[in-house]
Amino acid sequence: MVASAANTGMFPDNQERTVNDKPRILAFSGSSRRESLNQKALLVAARGAEKAGGEVTIIRLSDYLMPIYDGDLEQRDGPPQAAATLRRLMVDHHGFLVASPEYNGSITPLLKNALDWVSRPTPDRSNLAAFDHKVVGLIGASPSSLGAMRSLMHIRWILSKLGALVLPDQVSLPSADKSFDDQGRPSSSRDEEKLLALGRVVTETAARLHLPSSRG
Ligand SMILES: Cc1cc2nc3c(=O)[nH]c(=O)nc-3n(C[C@H](O)[C@H](O)[C@H](O)COP(=O)(O)O)c2cc1C
Repeated sequence: MVASAANTGMFPDNQERTVNDKPRILAFSGSSRRESLNQKALLVAARGAEKAGGEVTIIRLSDYLMPIYDGDLEQRDGPPQAAATLRRLMVDHHGFLVASPEYNGSITPLLKNALDWVSRPTPDRSNLAAFDHKVVGLIGASPSSLGAMRSLMHIRWILSKLGALVLPDQVSLPSADKSFDDQGRPSSSRDEEKLLALGRVVTETAARLHLPSSRG
């Protein structure tokens, strides 16, 4: 499992990887909180993806510092460096695991802003380049009884609009403040199984769709 930071130069322009032996899954969350419940859930799903043979890259969106989207700023300076880096990273992966809290019943500003910047067209790429046919598994965790379900509906809508294939499988964890132990492990084996299964399904679907050798 690779923990990638922004601006590592890992995916410089015109050097996307061409070796396609493993499905590559990018995992990120809509929370920047150090003790984020969603980040904990994401890590379990990422483990499921890795167990299924995926090459998993886990990032924190807060490492990709971007101003709030502003059309004048974009016209003057182009997209921020972090948005270009994130976009290249997304282009280079076959699927995404996305975990997010809900803020006032919807997507968090951190996640929405990143998606907005990454979805801006550039002279050499369409606005859909980072999303087109990417296989997405959604996770939501919240201390409340709804388990961030409303946020997941909005994220599903946005990513589908951008051309991603958001799987019907998703994991919503209500009362998530009680769902993890001190080491960040799920307290319930059922939750753990659901998260591992989501990681596996995203990986297997991405492989079938994007890696010719996996098509039976
Ligand atoms: C601005 C704001 C709005 C929130 N709105 C909701 C909400 O609508 N529904 C909900 O279940 N929790 C809501 N919460 C509580 C979050 O679910 C809770 O803080 C959660 O732990 C955040 O996810 P994280 O642990 O991954 O950071 C809100 C929190 C903030 C900061």
